Amino acid sequence: MNENNKTWSGRFNEPVSELVKRYTASVEFDQRLAPFDIQGSLAHANMLAAQGIISRDDLTAIEQGLSQIREEIQNNEFVWSLDLEDVHLNIEKRLTSLVGDAGKRLHTGRSRNDQVATDIRLFMRTAIDEIIVLIRAMQSALLDLAQQHIHTIMPGFTHLQVAQPVSFAHHLMAYFEMLKRDTGRLQDCRVRTNQLPLGAAALAGTSYPIDREYTARLLGFDGVCENSLDAVSDRDFAIEFNASAALIMTHLSRLSEELILWMTPAFGFIQLADRFCTGSSIMPQKKNPDVPELVRGKTGRVNGHLIALLTLMKAQPLAYNKDNQEDKEPLFDTVDTVIDTLRIYTDMLSGIQVNAQNMRRSALRGHATATDLADYLVKKGIPFRDAHEIVARTVQHAEHMQCELSELNLNDLQQFSAEVASDIFDFLTLEGSMSSRNHTGGTAPEQIQAAIQRARSWLANP
Ligand code: ARG
Repeated sequence: MNENNKTWSGRFNEPVSELVKRYTASVEFDQRLAPFDIQGSLAHANMLAAQGIISRDDLTAIEQGLSQIREEIQNNEFVWSLDLEDVHLNIEKRLTSLVGDAGKRLHTGRSRNDQVATDIRLFMRTAIDEIIVLIRAMQSALLDLAQQHIHTIMPGFTHLQVAQPVSFAHHLMAYFEMLKRDTGRLQDCRVRTNQLPLGAAALAGTSYPIDREYTARLLGFDGVCENSLDAVSDRDFAIEFNASAALIMTHLSRLSEELILWMTPAFGFIQLADRFCTGSSIMPQKKNPDVPELVRGKTGRVNGHLIALLTLMKAQPLAYNKDNQEDKEPLFDTVDTVIDTLRIYTDMLSGIQVNAQNMRRSALRGHATATDLADYLVKKGIPFRDAHEIVARTVQHAEHMQCELSELNLNDLQQFSAEVASDIFDFLTLEGSMSSRNHTGGTAPEQIQAAIQRARSWLANP
């Protein structure tokens, strides 16, 4: 080995500077891929032995060496070296020092290009599976909360103005749907992630008689990447994953925004458990919703990572380019952020205190049942546009009287339309308004109960 001491530096006349070494190395962050790198190497070595490319003895030595390395890493005894650039070369070098020539044979028919692509796919697959489990846990927490609040009435908003009364459970179930789509997107992305790049070698394939399907089976991949150039350079799956993650964060950010609003005294709809809030160092009365605020804030970094990955790929000629090394930090941070956020959210939901009275009071302000009056008139034969006009004038009158539409008496109401009879009060109440929206997807309690039931059986059997 030459004095540069780099695995690949045989043809180089001068060593890289310290700065260049640090600039080009990835070991500080990609050591996280070590378990997947070892998993991939074990499968590759098994395939090489099965094909007679390396001997059974070499395979045994490689297996023993790699299992020792796995332990060293787990016990924090492994010495990572910046000189060895990345996780792959660090492990290979250690393997060689442990088992000699067998270690040097491991890289036969393989390149770091197909190796790293395999590692990231294995990492992504594990992360996707973990995130799906965490989404389900959060969905289950949403269902538990919803079940308690089918009859809790809050104002539904459009333009953040009181629109129509809805059940708090119905509102929560909207987030269940978003998370359900998030799961679907992740599962879809997993299908394309779960294809094996190994065998592509540097870019063109290899002249050894390899069996890629065998390696794929060992690693639990559904198949092999069909084109070697694409195999080493494709990062679509990472972008798709990050896009799905950005949507998960977007959904959680929207819910956070609502929790933050609902927690202000002006709304007073909910309280978060103290363990998700902090106080102010100057204003003693403050209880700040730090966790939802940070969820909203962290959505920015996950969105940023998506743009980083898209930009990383946009000008790369085929096949592998060192640019690709930059895929890891955004991906890792996205995975960590989404996992932490889902975990914390599930816990936070189970500690939410609901102030049903304040929700109800707020739904009673803002003439939330105006549409119900219009619908009532339509059922009496008045065309909808005319009914709309009648109700608008009635609302104007209520405002003038400084009361709510539902507080007007029959005489008042009849001034605007003779069709109004005493049964109108069955519709102008919050409960009446809510129960009348009795179809799939509507806010009637019966429908919400059914939706929760469907959601539970979906969770049990997705
Ligand atoms: N550390 C590199 C990465 O993360 C591994 C692949 C290096 N391949 C190469 N030809 N330099 O992408």
